Amino acid sequence: MSPDRPSSPDVLAEPAHPLVRLAGLTHAHGRTPALRGVDLEVGAGTAVAVTGASGSGKSTLLHVAAGLLQPDAGSVQLLGHDLARLDDAERAQLRRRDVGIVLQYGQLVPDLPLLDGVALPLLLDGSALGPARDASRAALAGVGLADAEDAVPAELSGGQAQLAAVARALVAQPHLVLADEPVASLDPAGAALALDLLWGVVARGGALVLVTHDNVLAARCDREVRLAHGGVQHDLDLR
Ligand SMILES: Nc1ncnc2c1ncn2[C@@H]1O[C@H](COP(=O)(O)OP(=O)(O)O)[C@@H](O)[C@H]1O
Ligand SMILES: [Mg+2]
Repeated sequence: MSPDRPSSPDVLAEPAHPLVRLAGLTHAHGRTPALRGVDLEVGAGTAVAVTGASGSGKSTLLHVAAGLLQPDAGSVQLLGHDLARLDDAERAQLRRRDVGIVLQYGQLVPDLPLLDGVALPLLLDGSALGPARDASRAALAGVGLADAEDAVPAELSGGQAQLAAVARALVAQPHLVLADEPVASLDPAGAALALDLLWGVVARGGALVLVTHDNVLAARCDREVRLAHGGVQHDLDLR
């Protein structure tokens, strides 16, 4: 494994270079096909909604794009890095430093108070405790959880846990965020907070891939990629 930080800022400097490039992605869960040759490119400063019926492959696409599941065929490039060319440790490092991931379930470490749970990507990456906790406090305050830093995940409501997952995904100020229904269990005020933060990534020249079944939220994105039966049914420019 290379000790060097994967060099992603170069990618941002070249607007034509996509932050996400998925080509021919195919994945089956056992014998259940979930993705059947998905192509998707997402450029800097772009928010893409991934929509589709339940079971159409949205979550599988997000997990494969994040490098959390291996594709059976096809390739994933994030911020110019071909995931197949990185080892597990390098993929984990790229995620911790530059790819925020918000999953639907169980992303927080059960016994860790939120302050450290949200700081974890920084701590695992070798950041000192003080600065990591400062960044975590700022991220928690950003999602309205400043008073919950001592809570462990079991003490949180579903909505609070989702906000904490957003805080953790953003704590390292990533260029790319991959989010699976990140506001599905939030009230309107919490959803507005979380969405503003996610769109902040786009405003800073990064990219957001947002899985959602909410048409209003999808319409706020720059593009909508609709999946059906594991394939791209349409890829619409909404700007
Ligand atoms: N862990 C799993 N084991 C077996 N089948 C799965 C698993 N996860 C998803 N699937 C199947 O893969 C297909 C796509 O699922 P998923 O990606 O979760 O869709 P979506 O997020 O759009 O609802 C579905 O047929 C689903 O039943
Ligand atoms: Mg899903």
